[in-house]
Amino acid sequence: MLCKILQVSFQNKGISSKNLTFRFCSNHVKIPTLPSVSFEPKPYKGPNYNDVLNSRNTNISPFVRLMYKEPVMINQGYMQYVWDHTGKRYLDMFGGIVTVSVGHCHPKVTKAAVDQMHKLWHVTNIYMHPELHEYAKKLTDRFPGDLKVCYFCNSGSEANDLAIQLARLYTGAFDVISLRNAYHGDTPYSVGLCGIGTWKHSFPNGFGMHQIMNPDPYRGLWGGSSCRDSPVQPDRKCSCGVNQCKACDMYIAQLDELLTCSLPKKIAGFFAESIQGVGGTVQFPKNYLKKAFEIIRQHGGLCILDEVQTGFGRTGKFWGFYGHEVLPDIVTVAKGIGNGFPLAAVITRKDIADCLNDAAMFNTFGGNPVACAIGSAVLDVIDEEKIMENSHHVGTYLLHALSKLRRKYEIIGDVRGKGLMIGVEMVADKESRKPLPKSKMDAIIEDTKNMGLLIGRGGLSGNVFRIKPPMCISRADANFCVSCLENAVKKHSTL
Ligand SMILES: Cc1ncc(COP(=O)(O)O)c(C=O)c1O
Repeated sequence: MLCKILQVSFQNKGISSKNLTFRFCSNHVKIPTLPSVSFEPKPYKGPNYNDVLNSRNTNISPFVRLMYKEPVMINQGYMQYVWDHTGKRYLDMFGGIVTVSVGHCHPKVTKAAVDQMHKLWHVTNIYMHPELHEYAKKLTDRFPGDLKVCYFCNSGSEANDLAIQLARLYTGAFDVISLRNAYHGDTPYSVGLCGIGTWKHSFPNGFGMHQIMNPDPYRGLWGGSSCRDSPVQPDRKCSCGVNQCKACDMYIAQLDELLTCSLPKKIAGFFAESIQGVGGTVQFPKNYLKKAFEIIRQHGGLCILDEVQTGFGRTGKFWGFYGHEVLPDIVTVAKGIGNGFPLAAVITRKDIADCLNDAAMFNTFGGNPVACAIGSAVLDVIDEEKIMENSHHVGTYLLHALSKLRRKYEIIGDVRGKGLMIGVEMVADKESRKPLPKSKMDAIIEDTKNMGLLIGRGGLSGNVFRIKPPMCISRADANFCVSCLENAVKKHSTL
C-alpha cells in the first residue's frame, strides 16, 4: 500500500512520548502512528498464540470472555503502553479495567514490591508488621473528616460486602438502596447492589436491596444542558434557571417515593459510585448526591461511596466525591489503589468500625505486606509525578477533543466524564438515542485495536466506549486516541 509519513508535533506534557505521526494511505485515510517511547520490550519467548487460545477455551471458565474478534495476547507493559506477543505496541486507554493508575510496571512501584518480597511476604494481620501500620496512616491521611479507620481486603467486591455489613450492624436496620445501572461487585452479597441485568441470575441475591431510578442526564427521563460536573454537557435542552436543576429534583423525588412507599422508617444505607463506571461513565446531575445523602440520613441510613474506579486522582480530584461536595460515612476503594496488585480497603469512622467488635470479619490476605508496600509507593508516585493534575489537564483536553467528534458524527450521542474517567456513548442517531447496534460497536472497537488503541466498553447496552487509561498519559497519547477513534467512527458511520 502506498503510504507517506507526515510528522506532526503536539504540545506534550507526558512522561515519555514525544510526537504523533500520521500515515496517509492512497485513499487519503489518515492512519495515526503511536507517539514514540524510549523503552525496548523483551522479545516474547512464551507459548504459541494458538496454543494459549486453545488452553483458554479448555481450561478457563467460559464466563471470562475475551475482548475482540481477534483477541490480543499481551506480553509486557510499560507506563501507558503494552506490547503483544508479536512486539506490536498499543496505547492502553483502559488500564486493565481502570486499575493501572500510575503506569504499567511503574519503576518505583515495582521496586517497592521487589524490595518487600525480599523482606517479608506474608504473616496476616493478626501480627503487627510496620508496612500495614505505616500504610494505614498514609492512606487515611488522604481522607477528610473522621474517615480515619481502614480495613484492608483484596477486591472491590469484598470491600462493598463489608460496607453492607457495617451499615447493617451500625444502624440495626436492613434495607439498602443503590442505583439502577450501578455496578458494585460480583460476590453473592455485592451483586445485590448492582442495577445491571447482566449480573443478575436466578439465585437468591439482593435480599433487602432496592435500586432506584438512575439520575442519568443523557439517557434518563429528565436531563438538560447544564446538569453535569463535566467540561461537556448533554446535548439536551432544559428551561432551568441559574443554580436550578429540575431534573435533579425529579430524580430525588423518585428516591423519596421509594422511601415513603416501600421501605421501613429506618434504613441501613445508600450506595453510589461518584461516577458510574461499568454503567458507562454516567454522571449524576449536580447536587444529586448531596440531596440524596440528606434524605438518607433523615431515614437513619449511612451514605456509602464506592470509589473503586473514581479514587486516587482519576477524576482530577483525589476522590470522586470531592466533586459532589459530600462527606460519606463509608468509602470503598480498590483497583487504582494497587496499580494492578490485588488491594482494596473500606475506610470509615471509628464509631462505625467498632461494630465489628460484635461481628468479626476476617480476611487472610487483607493488609498483606507486599500489597501495603505497593499501595504506599502508588501514593508517593501520585504526588511526585503530579498524576492527579495530569489526569485533570489531559482529561479535560481529551474531553474537549472528543466533544468536537460528537458535533461531527451522528453516531456519537454523548461525551462525558471528568479527568481521565471518560465515556463516549454511541447511538444509531442523535434524535432517537437508540444504542448503536452491537455489530457496529464490535467493528469500531476491533478497528481501533488494530490501529494500536485499547479502549473499554460499558453501559446497559454495551454502547459506551470507556476511556480510563493509566493517568500518566500525555496529550500526544490523547491525540492518538482521538485520531484512531475518529478513523473508525468515520468508516462505520457510512457503512
Ligand atoms: C465501581 C466498582 N465497584 C466494585 C467493583 C468490584 O471490584 P472487584 O472486581 O475488584 O471485585 C468494580 C469492578 O469493576 C467497580 O467498578
